[in-house]
Amino acid sequence: MTLRIAIIGAGPSGLAQLRAFESARLAGAEVPEIVCFEKQEDWGGIWNYTWRTGLDEFGEPVHGSMYRYLWSNGPKEALEFADYSFEEHFGRPIPSYPPRAVLWDYIVGRVKKSDVRKYIRFRTPVRDVVYDEATAKFTVTVHDLLADHVYSDTFDYVVVASGHFSTPNVPYFPGVEKFPGRVMHAHDFRDAAEFAGKNMLLVGASYSAEDIGIQCYKYGATSVTFSYRTKPMGFAFPEAFSEVPLLLRVEGKTAYFKDGSSKEVDAIVLCTGYQHHFPFLPDGLRLKTNNRLWPLGLYKGVVWEKNPKLIYLGMQDQYYTFNMFDAQAWFARDVILGKIKLPSYEAMADDSLSWRAREESSTSASDDIDFQTAYVRDLIDRTDYPDFKPEVVGEQFKEWKHHKEEDVLTYRDYSFPSTLTGTMAPPHHTKWIEALDDSLEAFLGKKA
Ligand SMILES: Cc1cc2nc3c(=O)[nH]c(=O)nc-3n(C[C@H](O)[C@H](O)[C@H](O)COP(=O)(O)OP(=O)(O)OC[C@H]3O[C@@H](n4cnc5c(N)ncnc54)[C@H](O)[C@@H]3O)c2cc1C
Ligand SMILES: NC(=O)c1ccc[n+]([C@@H]2O[C@H](COP(=O)([O-])OP(=O)(O)OC[C@H]3O[C@@H](n4cnc5c(N)ncnc54)[C@H](OP(=O)(O)O)[C@@H]3O)[C@@H](O)[C@H]2O)c1
Repeated sequence: MTLRIAIIGAGPSGLAQLRAFESARLAGAEVPEIVCFEKQEDWGGIWNYTWRTGLDEFGEPVHGSMYRYLWSNGPKEALEFADYSFEEHFGRPIPSYPPRAVLWDYIVGRVKKSDVRKYIRFRTPVRDVVYDEATAKFTVTVHDLLADHVYSDTFDYVVVASGHFSTPNVPYFPGVEKFPGRVMHAHDFRDAAEFAGKNMLLVGASYSAEDIGIQCYKYGATSVTFSYRTKPMGFAFPEAFSEVPLLLRVEGKTAYFKDGSSKEVDAIVLCTGYQHHFPFLPDGLRLKTNNRLWPLGLYKGVVWEKNPKLIYLGMQDQYYTFNMFDAQAWFARDVILGKIKLPSYEAMADDSLSWRAREESSTSASDDIDFQTAYVRDLIDRTDYPDFKPEVVGEQFKEWKHHKEEDVLTYRDYSFPSTLTGTMAPPHHTKWIEALDDSLEAFLGKKA
């Protein structure tokens, strides 16, 4: 009997799973019946930009965390799909740091070619997943929002590809409720132009804080103050920026920090990260983790050890993105097709613990990059996913880190070679700090 598989989410991870099965089908394998449930009206996950915040028109929490004018924060050569180069998609080499619309076009371009849209039920959030030990099947309950119809179906495997950068982590700071200005989480940030002429306070010291901060500066904010909990980012920011310890309280427009300093600000953006949030999963199937390189409970970062018929994709903190999701999806595919035999529960848990020990022994960003490179290498050696030379990509990540340390406003002006085609990316026609139009047409030089 044909296996039935439910994929939850049609972002880069869910699409990787669809593509993995399609590639096996083209190679002559008999593939399972697949249904992909996607709550948004289109594919691409958080790359599918929405102006909405809060709840959508159906009362669903808005998935999108991306904002206008978002450019890739890593070189595209480091995320290139091993089976679909940027050159193949765009018909020519393009610069290394594309804006969101260009990457969305690329993600979608690959799956359009593989004709997998027919497997996706859009506007259909998954509400509930239950596993029945007796039948060894999952019952998946979903809501067809357009028909306003709730129904259930049974599957042999469930692939959770719902992302983990959508449900905000929102800490409380005393006095914030009386702050006479905008307070929001990065998840709801959309347009930096709103903050032109303002003094901004950004809480957090990671990618969102850094990128939203430099973007607000680019679009005219007067000053940007970053407040860190553990340690400052330490970049050589221009004079309009400062880094201060943790926010303790807010009184009127004045923010007070742990070192006794204070600053009058006009707006507060909480860049305090996201929660792994799976409201559709019961306790025994639900991954509970913070954002880290090695969440526990997942064999090879993918297979739920306590029930290997449940697969998770893309749940790690990410240096590698699209090609790592592919490597995971190809691995999951071969587990499902029986080509990869899983060891005992104990052996899977031991394997995970050894990765966790290595993760914990990391003392630098460079170690973290090596860790994820080794992980991706381990995965691609087990399947027929093309070898995109992760070790070379790892070195590119280190160079990228170095560029950021040199100048966080200019790192996006560098070029990298593709590990697939060997082609060096051309420079962009405009320096990133001056490139205010982030449309695909402007980036590709098609606008007058
Ligand atoms: C602000 C921001 C900027 C980023 N920038 C970059 C970048 O520059 N470069 C990079 O490589 N990575 C970037 N990332 C990382 C990003 O996580 C990955 O690139 C990628 O989008 C992850 O893919 P995913 O499919 O795992 O998750 P997502 O892209 O989040 O997709 C998950 C999908 O699941 C759907 N879904 C969720 N719940 C349900 C449900 N219950 N039922 C049905 N469908 C559901 C969602 O609607 C969504 O379509 C960024 C992340 C953020 C938050
Ligand atoms: N393309 C782009 O340019 C772009 C832009 C934004 C984001 N992204 C992506 O989005 C993903 C998420 O990045 P992120 O920065 O949102 O999350 P993140 O990397 O998980 O970082 C969360 C930050 O919030 C801080 N934090 C958490 N709780 C806090 C609290 N109670 N008080 C103060 N600080 C607190 C953390 O501080 P500690 O260090 O103390 O834990 C950390 O600095 C990343 O994959 C990133 O690449 C990309």
